Amino acid sequence: MAVELTWLGHATWSLRTGDVTILVDPFLDDSPTAPVKADQVEADFILISHGHADHCSDAVKIAKRTGALVISNFEICQWLTAQGVERTMAHNLGGGSQHAFGHVQLTIAHHSSQLPDGQYGGNPSGFLLSLAGGGPNIYFACDTALFYDMKLIGTVGLDLAILPIGDLFTMGPTDALQAVKLLQPKRAVPSHFGTWPPIQQDADAWAESVKKETRVEVTVLKPGEKLSV
Ligand code: NI
Ligand code: MN
Repeated sequence: MAVELTWLGHATWSLRTGDVTILVDPFLDDSPTAPVKADQVEADFILISHGHADHCSDAVKIAKRTGALVISNFEICQWLTAQGVERTMAHNLGGGSQHAFGHVQLTIAHHSSQLPDGQYGGNPSGFLLSLAGGGPNIYFACDTALFYDMKLIGTVGLDLAILPIGDLFTMGPTDALQAVKLLQPKRAVPSHFGTWPPIQQDADAWAESVKKETRVEVTVLKPGEKLSV
């Protein structure tokens, strides 16, 4: 089944497959680049990679309004439950679950994960989505440093890899190029850049560097733009 992916700025993504909407790392109301507010997005599933505010600050209100099932680590699911979110499904690293839209697995990420109120947010993760009906395999690296096991993640045959390029808090353009070489996806899309001055990057220059050194197609989106996979 075809998937439509929309960049909602920073590291927030919306995936539409069939009549299901999957929202990744909702950070909208306080994001300087988000094209929509938290009360304007739909969600049947919400994936949260780690506890930092720029990945989960709108999760509670969106989950309560939409009734979406939130998939995250155990500690973040507990934190959401304590705030009245009714539907959560706790995973741990390497664990996955099957849903009508397909399979989702939590992958390792080298980062940190403190929740906005200072609580421990468990281990940070990325997400590997294998969409049903022979749909695409999509990897969200989320906030992470470069790690060599990306090569292993790539063995599933990735149609799309979404990679941070912002530097400072995550890998930057040079390591993101190495990540593309390890993952060998058909297509790569940059994320987690341009939100604030410290993570400003020239994404087109990064796309050029990937094009020069690999056969991977790079699509650079602007917040609000869509991509079909
Ligand atoms: Ni983070
Ligand atoms: Mn972040």
